[in-house]
Amino acid sequence: MRGRDFISITDVTSQELDTVLQTAMGLKDKGRQTLLAGKTLALVFEKPSLRTRVSFHVAMRHLGGDCIYLSPPEVGLGERETPADVARVLSRYVDCIAARTFKTETQSELAAHATVPVINALSDGEHPCQALADMLTVREKKGGLRGLTLAFIGDGNNVANSLSLAAAMSGMHFRIASPEEYGLPGDIRARASELAEASGGSLKAMHNPAEAVADADVVYTDVWTSMGQEHEASQRKEYFAGYKVDAKLVAEAKPDAIFMHDLPAHRGEEVSGDVIDGPHSVVFDQAENRLHAQKALLALILSDETGS
Ligand code: CP
Repeated sequence: MRGRDFISITDVTSQELDTVLQTAMGLKDKGRQTLLAGKTLALVFEKPSLRTRVSFHVAMRHLGGDCIYLSPPEVGLGERETPADVARVLSRYVDCIAARTFKTETQSELAAHATVPVINALSDGEHPCQALADMLTVREKKGGLRGLTLAFIGDGNNVANSLSLAAAMSGMHFRIASPEEYGLPGDIRARASELAEASGGSLKAMHNPAEAVADADVVYTDVWTSMGQEHEASQRKEYFAGYKVDAKLVAEAKPDAIFMHDLPAHRGEEVSGDVIDGPHSVVFDQAENRLHAQKALLALILSDETGS
């Protein structure tokens, strides 16, 4: 993976995804390393962030490297300067760029013009770093991935896109229950189905949350309105009203099912407080795993060694 971009979760093979997770578990056990001494990561963000910004920053510090955060007004991607020129300039200063953008095309433009690797730290199309942490969390909690059923309840958004692809690459059975018009995009569904067929997994899209959750090992949800869609919030609240993950819904899953959410969460909307703060919830372990998964990703992309 050395020197490669990571824009989509499918930029790694199933085997490489497994290597990232193995490396993450190794680094989590070993703690701090100096694998990235002298290396610098630039974070170029068009949207707000808590987990992604802090976990990338701390990941670089733990690996002996450095990190620079560039906020939306500082860079003005596409306004003050073209993404192509931002990529060309940053490539002269830093060893890697992690970008959080609205359009996925901005990621592609950065990657096309950077001479250093570009990592997608969330775009409207995908959130592949979140999917790495999600797979790591399921693997830790369930002892593996193959054959498990993950039920995603809600919007077929960037998180669901990367998660469905990662699950499909890992031999999992991915079910998504969404209102009409808010399911996974057709291209993601087709690609995930293809990957699932190759791995022995499956993908099923439906409208009924109880059907999706029945006997599931993992129940996952995300906000109904993602960043950039705020003008649709009231309409979305109406459409998603029957898609709240509450204790009654979680009771349809396996008794030892885990509840996941990439955060930030809106208690009382997509998830009830007793679920996200209850015994099934692993959301803060999941948030912590952003750090470990990204340390592995950075080590594999930027270093000749991985600390294993
Ligand atoms: N889950 C996630 O990406 O969180 P932030 O938006 O806070 O980075």
